[in-house]
Amino acid sequence: MAQPAIVADNLTYRYGDLTAVDHISFQVDEGEIFGFLGPNGAGKSTTVNVLTGQVRPAEGRAQVLGMDIVKQTKQVQRYIGVIFETTNLYEQLNAVENLQLFAQLYGVKVDIMDLLEKVGLAGREKERVATYSKGMKQRLMVARALLHKPRVLFLDEPTDGLDPVSSRTIHALIQEAADRGTAVFLTTHDMMEADKLCNRVAFINQGKIVALDSPSALKLRYGKRALRVEVEGPDGQVTTHEIPLDGTDSVQQLSALAQEGRILTVHSEEATLEDIFIQITGRGLYG
Ligand SMILES: Nc1ncnc2c1ncn2[C@@H]1O[C@H](COP(=O)(O)OP(=O)(O)OP(=O)(O)O)[C@@H](O)[C@H]1O
Ligand SMILES: [Mg+2]
Repeated sequence: MAQPAIVADNLTYRYGDLTAVDHISFQVDEGEIFGFLGPNGAGKSTTVNVLTGQVRPAEGRAQVLGMDIVKQTKQVQRYIGVIFETTNLYEQLNAVENLQLFAQLYGVKVDIMDLLEKVGLAGREKERVATYSKGMKQRLMVARALLHKPRVLFLDEPTDGLDPVSSRTIHALIQEAADRGTAVFLTTHDMMEADKLCNRVAFINQGKIVALDSPSALKLRYGKRALRVEVEGPDGQVTTHEIPLDGTDSVQQLSALAQEGRILTVHSEEATLEDIFIQITGRGLYG
């Protein structure tokens, strides 16, 4: 079994008295998309900063591709691609120049126009980044993070504030990288994004991991397995019924409802990741 791409072991970071990252442990495999979900201030960006060698952990250890992030920071940084929370592009340069600089820095030859095409910036590549919209900058940061074909990607809210089409473009690129074997550490507030993309997700609250599993396993464990059925009776009145899926007579119940009237809608009551987060922590993902 190949070693995991990322190993965090009791990782802890403090800002003075505040423990922003509190003894967290997890592993991410090659080719895996690992979601890191939590409300504002939970410690997501701080975790990214620690794992990418921007700051040193107060306690615990972490390895990326088998290398210690504190002792071998420079080597680690060669193999990773990162999107930090704040834009760190050269605003006075255009997109091509930004990517050329990074290609030089990593000593790689890449087809920059092909990459810009992929992130939907072709045609705008000669304009100064300072004049780009938020979404355009975000897409350029994705291109930059992917440029040297990193083996591990750290993406801090890569689709925050983007329109659905831009988000979908970025999702496809993340999935493509994972399919090539890249390990992806993704922080997000977007539960649909996490559900769709991530093989596993960790919920982080006040610096601690409070749950960690695949989205489907979490939904099975915490969700209500039931169908919600809307029926229109002969008198035209619409009533709503809940049928538990784990009972032995679910089918009979449904067919009884069909006898009673006209079935208008049938929905599964599967919990969303957001519901589960609230159930575990007593708070929502936005504060
Ligand atoms: N430079 C800093 N100095 C002091 N405290 C900080 C600093 N940066 C972050 N913190 C605190 O550390 C905690 C974790 O912050 P962090 O930015 O990691 O959260 P986050 O999960 O990324 O939140 P968001 O969803 O808003 O991006 C918060 O309580 C925050 O106020
Ligand atoms: Mg953050």
